Amino acid sequence: MDKFVIRGGNPLVGTIRVSGAKNSALPCMAAAILTEDEVTLENVPQVRDIETERRLLVSMGAEVELGYGRAQHRTTISCRTLSDPEAKYEIVKTMRASSLVLGPLVARAGMARVAMPGGCAIGGRPIDLHIKGLEKMGATITQEHGYLEARAERLRGAHLVFDRITVTGTEDLLMAAVLAEGETLMENCAREPEITDLAALLTAMGAKIEGAGSSTIRIKGVQRLHGARYRINPDRIEAGTFLVAGAITRGDLIVANCNPSHLGAVIAKLEQTGVRVDIPGPDTVRVRADGQLRAADISTEEYPGFPTDMQAQYMALATQAEGVSMVKENIFENRFMHVQELVRMGANIKVDGSTATVRGPARLSATAVMCSDLRASASLVLAALVADGESILDRVYHMDRGYERIEEKLRGVGAQIMRMGNVFNPKEGETAAD
Ligand code: EPU
Repeated sequence: MDKFVIRGGNPLVGTIRVSGAKNSALPCMAAAILTEDEVTLENVPQVRDIETERRLLVSMGAEVELGYGRAQHRTTISCRTLSDPEAKYEIVKTMRASSLVLGPLVARAGMARVAMPGGCAIGGRPIDLHIKGLEKMGATITQEHGYLEARAERLRGAHLVFDRITVTGTEDLLMAAVLAEGETLMENCAREPEITDLAALLTAMGAKIEGAGSSTIRIKGVQRLHGARYRINPDRIEAGTFLVAGAITRGDLIVANCNPSHLGAVIAKLEQTGVRVDIPGPDTVRVRADGQLRAADISTEEYPGFPTDMQAQYMALATQAEGVSMVKENIFENRFMHVQELVRMGANIKVDGSTATVRGPARLSATAVMCSDLRASASLVLAALVADGESILDRVYHMDRGYERIEEKLRGVGAQIMRMGNVFNPKEGETAAD
């Protein structure tokens, strides 16, 4: 299994480029199920979750081409034949986002068999809201032998009100509604930029959607969708992780190829922490941190609030800030797996329920630590970048799920980080799910 060896202490200086958003590319790949034509996606990150989704689509009979060389971030998908509309447990257990194929499969093929995802490292993560929505649209759903089977000759438009805000739930039902008969009104929808990305692709495929990116989305179902070419937006969580990397190492880092308007809550919090943040261009953010960082509280919220996917990384920064930072996690019930490892590195953090109290600044000292999920791994990389000595991070396959060659990118701006083992093995850690 690959490991990272990181020697802390170097300020990161220079320009680092952000890849396409994993959490946009995943639903966009699933959207290709909705048409017999080819869908081409550009700016698809080369990360393990994308490889998993490719395997999932191929297992259903789709043809998926991941580009190489100059076209290495292009993916072309053809779902002309969907001989086996089933998401098997072997794949679903490695990536919960596999349940994103449920809505599009029922809409296109009239049936879907999807293995029920279990819980994962960060929480229970049920999909009851996806199921409830499909039932309201006329699907018959049965559950047997760990699989969920959904059937509907043609889904009907419906009035859906989400009991709680769900990102992939909104995406799944949006994809179901575009081919349904009549109009669907969805309320209390997620407003994440990834929803807007998916809706833009669906619109390019011929769907009729209004309001994506707001809490109310209105969809007029159409008979069929056609192929399209679409460029995935930059990954706001990767961008946020790099902003914290610049700040925690007291560097001067330009994060390029990002969308600053998607980073509002993260930028505001960094400024409150005493980091200088500038936006020198439409797709660039610069961070500088030379003085003492100050403690600031965070409370994770749905977009446009502070993202749960940045909580672990911000906590690493909080260990270096003067004073007490309260970190409240509101989205997932068990997203503090990084805390014990940060404490082993010398951080002073106490967890009480969904709140972590971080007292800083703490002198972090390098040690061997274990990555437990994607964002927890990012937090440990950040801590190791300022720790005294050489840290060894085990199980970096978690990192490879969502960050494209992060060690190369960080090395390019002055970090001392090396991978031990294979360079990005997409099959490694196939039993890990989050
Ligand atoms: N929930 C339910 N029932 C449902 C669906 C969700 O109770 O049917 C609950 C969840 O258990 C959770 C909350 O609602 O407590 C929000 O979950 P949501 O459905 O929004 O999460 P998700 O769609 O499964 C996506 C991202 C996550 C990100 C969350 C929150 C993708 C592929 N995944 O997950 O990304 O943390 O939204 O923003 O888009 C990551 O990239 O590291 C990651 C975990």
